[in-house]
Amino acid sequence: MNIILITGGLGFIGGHFLNKIKDNNSFEKIIVFDKMTYASNYKRLKNIFENKNILLVKGDIANKNDVQRVFKKHKPNIVINFAAESHVDSSINKPELFLEVNTKGTLNLLIEAKKLWINENSLLKETFEKSIFFQISTDEVFGSLSTHNLFDERSPYSPNSPYSASKASADHFVKAFHKTYNLPTIISYSSNNFGPYQNEEKLIPKIISCVKKNKDIPIYADGTNIRDWIYVEDHCKAINLILEKGKPGKQYCIGGSNEMSNLEICKLILVNIDQLIPCKNKNKYMDKIKFVKDRKGHDFRYALKTSKIFYDHGIFKKSSFEENLRITIAHFLNLKK
Ligand SMILES: NC(=O)c1ccc[n+]([C@@H]2O[C@H](COP(=O)([O-])OP(=O)(O)OC[C@H]3O[C@@H](n4cnc5c(N)ncnc54)[C@H](O)[C@@H]3O)[C@@H](O)[C@H]2O)c1
Repeated sequence: MNIILITGGLGFIGGHFLNKIKDNNSFEKIIVFDKMTYASNYKRLKNIFENKNILLVKGDIANKNDVQRVFKKHKPNIVINFAAESHVDSSINKPELFLEVNTKGTLNLLIEAKKLWINENSLLKETFEKSIFFQISTDEVFGSLSTHNLFDERSPYSPNSPYSASKASADHFVKAFHKTYNLPTIISYSSNNFGPYQNEEKLIPKIISCVKKNKDIPIYADGTNIRDWIYVEDHCKAINLILEKGKPGKQYCIGGSNEMSNLEICKLILVNIDQLIPCKNKNKYMDKIKFVKDRKGHDFRYALKTSKIFYDHGIFKKSSFEENLRITIAHFLNLKK
């Protein structure tokens, strides 16, 4: 039986993942460790904590004492680290916070996992059948792509924003703990997630929120920057598969195969909203698009070559980008779907 520690489990992706595994009885205990920042959403998930095997511990991964306490008390054999400051724009104004949380926070978790699982470079097998430290990373650690090529697990790191630099540094520590101490670690990189409950600071919910409030829709520069979009549920399916089949010391890429420029996705959302809430003035929504000064150091394009393991298990087969986008839009417009 496993005891899983999910950091950042009250956030957007962590919350979807928690929902997915809440009834999985291979987990004896599920511990959600979260600082409950502005990005968390307890209300959405509170019913889950009525289950006596699922516990919420309020704590800060950047605080060594908090981290020590949760490891000592619950002795997890699986750690999935979703906890992070996740907004690139905020990282431009507050780089130190991103270093503290994303990098030092990850290091604190690695140190406690090592204390618990490793004895003179060998895993304490008698204590834990299967231990894994699973770091949730991002395609942004690889930097910016031109119009060709895709990133894969072997791409060199070349982060450009303080956010991606802090995530890349965290990943380097994860890899270093595997090489140096034999800690069983896995890293997954995913492209841009979208879906219900994402924080409104992120592009897709922000566009919908602007429409709801009849406000201008800000699009950086000329809107040609390209992102690859993955539905959050698909990302969580991939994480689950890695938990079951992933190999310690490996990295996995989880792409969405849905590359779009920011302007394209914005227009697609507006067309969808127009179908849901038709308006007489055909240009009403499109007219709200306003091109604004570009983000500092804005990466042109991210895109990933999805790792073979996910095709081998056919886990994304039934997923439709258009349908998932409609579900997301309906969620943010408070329409039943
Ligand atoms: N959203 C994306 O498109 C995307 C893409 C690739 C990778 N990721 C990575 O996935 C992870 C989750 O992203 P998200 O979009 O769900 O983020 P989010 O901002 O929605 O949620 C982050 C969660 O972490 C918690 N948290 C923040 N600081 C903490 C701290 N110091 N200690 C404990 N908890 C803390 C917050 O309270 C929140 O619940 C992050 O590591 C992010 O880098 C996200």
